[in-house]
Amino acid sequence: MGENMIVPVPESWAGQGAVDAATYAADHARSIADSDGFWRDQIGRLDWVKTPTRMDESDFSESNFQIRWFADGRINVSANCLDRHLAERGDATAIIWEPDDPTAAPRHISYRALHAEVCRFANVLKAAGAHRGSRVTLYLPMIPEAAVAMLACARIGAIHSIVFGGFSPDALAGRIQDCDSTIVVTADEGRRGGKRVPLKANVDAALPHCPSIETVIVVPATGADVPMRAGRDLRYDAAIAAASPDCPPEAMDSEDPLFLLYTSGSTGKPKGVVHSSGGYLLWAAMTHQLCFDYRPGEVFWCAADVGWVTGHSYIVYGPLANGATTLMYEGVPNWPSAARIWQVVERHRVATLFTAPTVLRSLMKEGDDLVLSTDRSSLRLLGSVGEPINPEAWRWYHAVPGEGRCPIIDMWWQTETGAGMIAPLPGATPLKPGSATFPLPGVEPRLLDGEGAVLEGAADGNLVIARSWPGQMRTVWNDHDRFFQTYFTTFPGYYTTGDGARRDADGYWWITGRVDDVINVSGHRMGTAEVESALVLHPKVAEAAVVGMPHELKGQGIYAYVTLNAGDEADEALRRELVQWVRREIGPIATPDAVQFAPGLPKTRSGKIMRRILRKIAEGEIGALGDISTLADPAVVDDLVANRVMA
Ligand code: WTA
Repeated sequence: MGENMIVPVPESWAGQGAVDAATYAADHARSIADSDGFWRDQIGRLDWVKTPTRMDESDFSESNFQIRWFADGRINVSANCLDRHLAERGDATAIIWEPDDPTAAPRHISYRALHAEVCRFANVLKAAGAHRGSRVTLYLPMIPEAAVAMLACARIGAIHSIVFGGFSPDALAGRIQDCDSTIVVTADEGRRGGKRVPLKANVDAALPHCPSIETVIVVPATGADVPMRAGRDLRYDAAIAAASPDCPPEAMDSEDPLFLLYTSGSTGKPKGVVHSSGGYLLWAAMTHQLCFDYRPGEVFWCAADVGWVTGHSYIVYGPLANGATTLMYEGVPNWPSAARIWQVVERHRVATLFTAPTVLRSLMKEGDDLVLSTDRSSLRLLGSVGEPINPEAWRWYHAVPGEGRCPIIDMWWQTETGAGMIAPLPGATPLKPGSATFPLPGVEPRLLDGEGAVLEGAADGNLVIARSWPGQMRTVWNDHDRFFQTYFTTFPGYYTTGDGARRDADGYWWITGRVDDVINVSGHRMGTAEVESALVLHPKVAEAAVVGMPHELKGQGIYAYVTLNAGDEADEALRRELVQWVRREIGPIATPDAVQFAPGLPKTRSGKIMRRILRKIAEGEIGALGDISTLADPAVVDDLVANRVMA
């Protein structure tokens, strides 16, 4: 579908983009054929304390496994995002903050003001014992203090670990315990869509299980009266006021970790993805500049949350490294109405909007009038990220909000890749609705069949990456072996993405979705194993299996099959209780869309659950269950089909 439809580079862009088609082709070819030379030219995008002489020293093989870039370079990330802009654009706006409440006043924070606040907060962190290499957990709403805290950690070389504010106390505790952070930065409450999120209360509920935490710093975001524990809890505003604005940036090794961010995989607990200082920042800055053709003075809006990798790379690090004005929005795109997102574009004269297909699908169904009632003449570019964009949503985004004149930058990447990997460049790439188009310079994607043979030409297969790139994750926190096992053993010699893809006859890449047990709910990654573990904690649940199901708005929904303990009764009340249970255990993003009580799950004789069959039933493809003769008890399938839940 859509494979033959080409949307050419618009007139208004021809010859206007920083990179044209010929330059892109030459850059990409050189990045592969002469990687060393290519990267020697690119490192000048950043200010180094010591310019690296060594480029890529990565090796995906088991015997010599390492991911390493710019290893003899020294750098400070916050100095690149702040100090180096002061002379030329100290008074330019670094962050525009748009509050949840549309009647409240936005804030404009200049580079100079942001620099001063970051230095003060870095001193607060130091006084609380943070230092080079120590971990600081951030559990914050979308307020400027989130960016301040990130950059303050970077300034002193502490490693931040952001936990999305929608996660439960249990999920927060697990992420604190895994990295033994000593400080939590949080807020009294968060605001989202007119509702309050009890962040400090959640921290208080998590901390009895987190002996490593010594200090909690609380930003007064809503002014709610929250209990403060003497000797442990500090107020952000009081601490900042008392701190010195002088804090020289720490000279970090390029390979020193900048942050870790927990993400879901096919198995086990979420892993702490570790990103480097030099390589990560270069990748975030380069991709932000190339894909969004950033021009000084423009307002760039990535409508993600800093709790996810998209917020790290495209709200904070990429834009600020490039001296951009980045918009940070506290709320949700459709509150108080579906026009909000476009009203924010109009209010702040946004040039680039970067959002997720799930948002577009939910806005699209509200009709065009709400969009057309706003002035979007400031828009130059539109971006899409987080999940495959269906061609229908693509065409709507392009035609209605984008008035047919804004290229759509559909960027494929992952928490593990640090920043964009496959994406069009606005002045260079003719688009196809639903295709992420071509690899960025430095990226060498391949398609492999199930046996690991390389597929050439037009083909469908497993998407792998054949060489390292600077923004690649360096390890799993505290578990380097898990890093190697997870990503480099399925197809030896390659980084395995976990995604499937198709390359069409014109060489365009189409991401077809996950091929593992990870599902993508509203652009958020969820491990089916995590939801299963939450369900089996319930005293009445004997066993659970969770799969993805197609969902009109969310892309995928969560479908749970639950077997109860003998004697426990399946009824509507228990179904609702289980849904609430998962929300409480993990957070609202993990809310099951369908719960089916199943007396038995389809298992092989060796006891392995055949998820393929469960997926087909959840998808409603009951005519295509395939071979079920290898099941220990094929009769369970009839019951599953008969009692399928329509979500
Ligand atoms: C999916 C988010 C298709 C993909 C940046 C990937 C996409 C997972 C796209 C990573 C896209 C992300 N087209 N699929 N443009 N962008 N994905 O780690 O399945 O939260 O593996 O990173 O999202 O999700 P993550």
